[in-house]
Amino acid sequence: SEPLRLGIAGLGTVGIGIVKIVQRHAELIERRCGRRIAITAVSARDRSKTRDADLSNYAWESDPVALARRPDVDIFIEVMGGSEGPAQEATRAAIDAGKDVVTANKALLAHHGQALAEAAEARGRVIRFEAAVAGGIPVIKALTEGLAGNAITRVMGVMNGTCNYILTRMDSAGLPYDTVFEEARQLGYLEADPNLDVGGIDAGHKLSLLAAIAFGTQVSFDAVDLEGIGRISIDDIRRAGDMGFKIKLLGVAQMTGRGLEQRMSPCLVPADSPLGQLQGGTNMVVLEGDSVGQIVLRGPGAGMGPTASAVMADVIEIARGCRISTFGQPASTLAVPVAAKATAP
Ligand code: NDP
Ligand code: HSE
Repeated sequence: SEPLRLGIAGLGTVGIGIVKIVQRHAELIERRCGRRIAITAVSARDRSKTRDADLSNYAWESDPVALARRPDVDIFIEVMGGSEGPAQEATRAAIDAGKDVVTANKALLAHHGQALAEAAEARGRVIRFEAAVAGGIPVIKALTEGLAGNAITRVMGVMNGTCNYILTRMDSAGLPYDTVFEEARQLGYLEADPNLDVGGIDAGHKLSLLAAIAFGTQVSFDAVDLEGIGRISIDDIRRAGDMGFKIKLLGVAQMTGRGLEQRMSPCLVPADSPLGQLQGGTNMVVLEGDSVGQIVLRGPGAGMGPTASAVMADVIEIARGCRISTFGQPASTLAVPVAAKATAP
């Protein structure tokens, strides 16, 4: 059969990770989906940049919109980042050109995911985004497939590895916020705009996507009650520790009689609980369903391999013929949520 052809827009951490998986696992992927997967074209800003992969067999497009429209691209993979600009324009162009889309871009999805998914579905295409929430942890597939027979009662978790790194490092080394923030910057953990991480915005984007999937409601990032970690002091962490608690940037989404609560904020969690023991840049997502009870997923929420792993899972699903929306139901059938002010978990 004809190969399924990928166009990759963005050749940074995630884009190069995808190239590496496609090159390393060509045969394994073909066995798993009964079809060869081939990269035909790639795009990034700077063609002269040295990249850690052989790209010589792929066509180069300097304009991601042109890449999105290429007739030899079946799946457009958007791993550039940013909620507006090229990421939005190219994704929209790909959908208009009749392509399926896979993206890791939670900012884009939190702001435009609803419209993009509806546009894709209107053309019989899909937009999938497993990598956008908790990186390498297959949390969206757990919700939409593994727990498809449950009414979800609550989703919660630690979804920003950088904040968890900062909080656990302050705790273990007894260092103040500013010192550890600087350390995180040196280590390259922070987003280009660090407020996306420490302001809780990145984690809020992820929570809004999970909430939409869990409760069958339209993505409503603006309704997330957000508070970052910038005001947490070493004294706060010490006092919490004295009472047997850890401070975590915790996201909670639940449907209540008053509507959908979505909150991302620093919370006290018991030090001996799985969430309390979560170290460093790791993510943890807790899913609660009416039949299954509670399940806990833990793993790498970022990085080249883990994020590319999740992108490739979506690509393989599409190659297998899966036409199910990442939302677990058609995006056009998602309900308009009534936002409720969040209460303590
Ligand atoms: P990087 O900054 O490492 O890479 C971004 C890539 O996009 C670069 O190759 C850059 O080109 C290219 N790019 C940016 N703007 C344009 C443009 N206007 N036209 C063409 N190419 C452009 O980002 P990441 O790989 O880390 O992240 C990609 C996406 O994945 C983001 O949405 C991010 O939020 C998401 N994500 C990332 C995770 C991670 O661990 N890194 C985890 C989960 C999600 P050039 O190289 O030439 O500068
Ligand atoms: N800045 C994000 C984090 C990257 O620290 O979790 C992965 O989405």
